[in-house]
Amino acid sequence: MYDPLKNLDINKKDPIILGIESSCDETAAAVIRGRKILSDEIASSASVQAQFGGVVPEIASRAHTDAVAEVVERAVKNAGISYADIDAVAVTYGAGLLGALLVGVSFAKAFAYALNKPLIAVNHIRGHLAASYLSAPELKPPFVTLLASGGHTAILYAKSEAEFEILGATLDDAAGEAFDKVARVLGLKYPGGPNIEKCALDGKANVPMPKMLKGGGGYNFSYSGLKTAVINYCHTKEQKKEEFSKADVACSFQKAAVDVLVEKTVSAAKEKGVNTVTAGGGVAANTYLRSSLQAACEQNGLTLVLPEKRYCTDNAAMIASEGLVQYRLGNFAEMDLTAKASIPLAATLETVQSRRAEERKV
Ligand code: KG4
Ligand code: ZN
Repeated sequence: MYDPLKNLDINKKDPIILGIESSCDETAAAVIRGRKILSDEIASSASVQAQFGGVVPEIASRAHTDAVAEVVERAVKNAGISYADIDAVAVTYGAGLLGALLVGVSFAKAFAYALNKPLIAVNHIRGHLAASYLSAPELKPPFVTLLASGGHTAILYAKSEAEFEILGATLDDAAGEAFDKVARVLGLKYPGGPNIEKCALDGKANVPMPKMLKGGGGYNFSYSGLKTAVINYCHTKEQKKEEFSKADVACSFQKAAVDVLVEKTVSAAKEKGVNTVTAGGGVAANTYLRSSLQAACEQNGLTLVLPEKRYCTDNAAMIASEGLVQYRLGNFAEMDLTAKASIPLAATLETVQSRRAEERKV
């Protein structure tokens, strides 16, 4: 009989969590002990997807199906543990590509069931937010965090490991989305962000870009104007058959897209009176963002905690890290867990105390 919560100690010191992530084109599995990463494995279908200029959901699902068992096995083996040592199985249930998510969720359910281990449903974005704990095990809220991924851009106030307040968010496109769209216009390959970053290295920030809701808009952002400005600039140049430097466009775009993130994150931290800033999501892997945010934090006496670059983009260690947060709350999933393609930011940040955790308190 599946009864994993019997005799479970949610206060156990340094529990071992297996994380599984399959929301997009990466099949990933990782094992953490407390906040220490024991192993971290990824199989990516990105090179296949690059031929199509983006992620084809059906190709991603099939690649996950082929890879998931082997990736999980490798993660457990490389962690130097046995299956019995695992305290809980954390899996991304949303948001993402439905078919892709279902592969991870189905595998995690079967795996947890077979081992009689608790299952934890992890929201992918909460995973990005929990990645910072892996690079600074002593990190404790409150802090202000910049979330900049492919689908979200927001500044959050973390009251506790599980409670967030949205201080500002994008009013239209996410920063990562803007990187991806501008990359397409410049003829750069998928994934856009890292390729814009590479291209920008040879350029100068000398192409005029629109103002980025800098002083106004509170801590909100708007990226659609910036994206349109770049598209118009390139199309006008092409129509007039004028030469232009892709590197200069990439560099100017990157500066405009990043400077506003840095400026608003630091002002939010100052207003909230916290002394620590963190960041998460794929765009936080951007070297210009990392160095600008570091410089701005230093200037303002703030400590910056950034996940290593590989833990900014999709990975399973961050899913295990958020799994640990949920484990401590006693928030375990049932076997009827299913995948969710989209989850609004407000719902993502809600604190869910499971019925079972409440039951255990009495
Ligand atoms: O967080 P993530 O892996 O996906 C979501 O959960 O949404 O982030 C992917 C996004 C993509 O838009 C990608 O272009 C962007 O992060 N990205 C970058 C860099 N690496 C990834 N953007 C700018 N510079 C990078 N180095
Ligand atoms: Zn992600």
